[in-house]
Amino acid sequence: MRLTFAPMSAGAAADIAQWIYPSPYDVYNVPPSYRDDAISELLKPANAYYAISDDSSGELIGFCCFGISAQVPGGDYAAPALDVGVGLRPDLTGRRFGPDFIAAILDFANALVNAAVFRATIAAFNERSQRAFGKLGFEKIGEFSNEGPKGRRDWVIMFRPDAQ
Ligand SMILES: CC(C)(COP(=O)(O)OP(=O)(O)OC[C@H]1O[C@@H](n2cnc3c(N)ncnc32)[C@H](O)[C@@H]1OP(=O)(O)O)[C@@H](O)C(=O)NCCC(=O)NCCS
Repeated sequence: MRLTFAPMSAGAAADIAQWIYPSPYDVYNVPPSYRDDAISELLKPANAYYAISDDSSGELIGFCCFGISAQVPGGDYAAPALDVGVGLRPDLTGRRFGPDFIAAILDFANALVNAAVFRATIAAFNERSQRAFGKLGFEKIGEFSNEGPKGRRDWVIMFRPDAQ
């Protein structure tokens, strides 16, 4: 699948804010009361969100973000690296598309800023995501917990060293 990346648009942000992931990934669902705020966050240029579409159908298939929007409060981000966040459309998850999807995002990031060193912060329970990143050379380098609106959450930080 050839993918097209574009700065987040209002239409794509509105779609993404309504995506519904099945449990246990429902933690990524946007509650209806927070939808407008989520759309604003997706559209803030400083958050560097990009909509990702399938070239042939033009359909929105996911999104990514870079920098501070891909960090989680409480994590240690002292080491220089480009933080990357990813989201695949719910109906496309769990079909082993993750590594190709993430690889395309890293290629796009490198074309933009030649990052070389990448970091991802992933919910500790989300072994599927950790495994997908692991297949691209990411290694777990730390873990932390924080207190969010939905209670205590555990996180892992994964890092992909240079020269991958
Ligand atoms: C994270 C994401 C990109 C992964 O892509 P995906 O296509 O769903 O993942 P895959 O189907 O490629 O699965 C990756 C690996 O995890 C494995 N896996 C699936 N469910 C698993 C589970 N519950 N526990 C452990 N491993 C699991 C798969 O078997 C696969 O490994 P394998 O190919 O060696 O068998 C995608 O699920 C996504 O964007 N989800 C949105 C919600 C989310 O998780 N966001 C967090 C992003 S950091």
